[in-house]
Amino acid sequence: TLFARPSQPKIVVEKSTVPVRAAESICTILRANERPGVRHTVLSNPEFLAEGFRCVRSLVPKERLVTMNLWSSELSKLVANAMLAQRISSINAASAICEATGADVSEVAQAVGADSRIGPRFLCASLGFGGSCFQKDVLNLCLNLPEVARYWESVVTLNQYQKYRFADKIIVDLFNTVKGKRIAVLGFAFKKDTGDTRESPAIDVCRRLIDEGALLRVYDPKVASSQIRLDLNQPEPDEASDAAVLTVCSDAYSAAEGAHAVVICTEWSEFSQLDFGRIFASMAKPAFVFDGRNVLDHEALLRIGFRVRAVGKRLDCGGV
Ligand code: UGA
Repeated sequence: TLFARPSQPKIVVEKSTVPVRAAESICTILRANERPGVRHTVLSNPEFLAEGFRCVRSLVPKERLVTMNLWSSELSKLVANAMLAQRISSINAASAICEATGADVSEVAQAVGADSRIGPRFLCASLGFGGSCFQKDVLNLCLNLPEVARYWESVVTLNQYQKYRFADKIIVDLFNTVKGKRIAVLGFAFKKDTGDTRESPAIDVCRRLIDEGALLRVYDPKVASSQIRLDLNQPEPDEASDAAVLTVCSDAYSAAEGAHAVVICTEWSEFSQLDFGRIFASMAKPAFVFDGRNVLDHEALLRIGFRVRAVGKRLDCGGV
């Protein structure tokens, strides 16, 4: 379609995140196809919306438009995403220190975020960031500048470490083996209010647990069963079985039935509304909760009798 009317000039707009100097490649292709006297133009207009938020319908007022050179525009979007990802890796690195020292990462985040130069947003420690953009965009900054590349790569390395650290904690706390144990995984999307599983940290955690012989019972309010099976490379079995490696459940209660542990992978609001007394009664004992998003009421869970593990904080579990 771009070349349908070759005698007329075109403006090509880069809207999504692109590797640095993508406009150069686009220009080369366009120029090679131009008719004499017809000039095509490329401009970069990246959008900064996060998934699950409503689109801005009206045009942005002129006074709020920022114009800059093409390469700055392309790079701004990449650097914005990389700095957001770096912020999460920073608080997640702090969460590991908190677990080692007895500090509480939520308290640290609150104190640090109160400094207006830092600000309070994007400081929620978690089992790791996901989504289609963060990892890709950070790695797109790893150009032929070795020191710079190593710096940005460490953001992704820390994110991998956080996911495996979380999965390993589950294995160690379940008495060093999850083989043959039922584990309820609540949430599979990369964040709440979306059915998107691209780069979801739940995938790495679940794969690690499956590799160690766990029997997973996964529930997510929005992600289709077929997507969960695809991401975990577990085709639909011919018939349902209690010993299935993966069972996709239609609610949190059936996922938790007979399970040794409940693992929160996505911060869906409905999870904090669950009747955990009912869940505890239906689980194998000792019953564990691993809160990978720090969204549950940990004190209430301890009172019910759960052994509770969260990201970046030590919780009293009856001396264990
Ligand atoms: C991100 C950016 O926030 C948008 O500005 C950008 O436009 C978009 O990528 C894009 O390039 O398309 P999105 O991927 O939709 O948006 O999701 P975020 O809300 O940024 O969350 C990304 C990941 O970080 C999620 O897994 C989320 O759970 C995690 N996260 C976020 C944390 O672990 N802790 C936090 O404090 C915040």
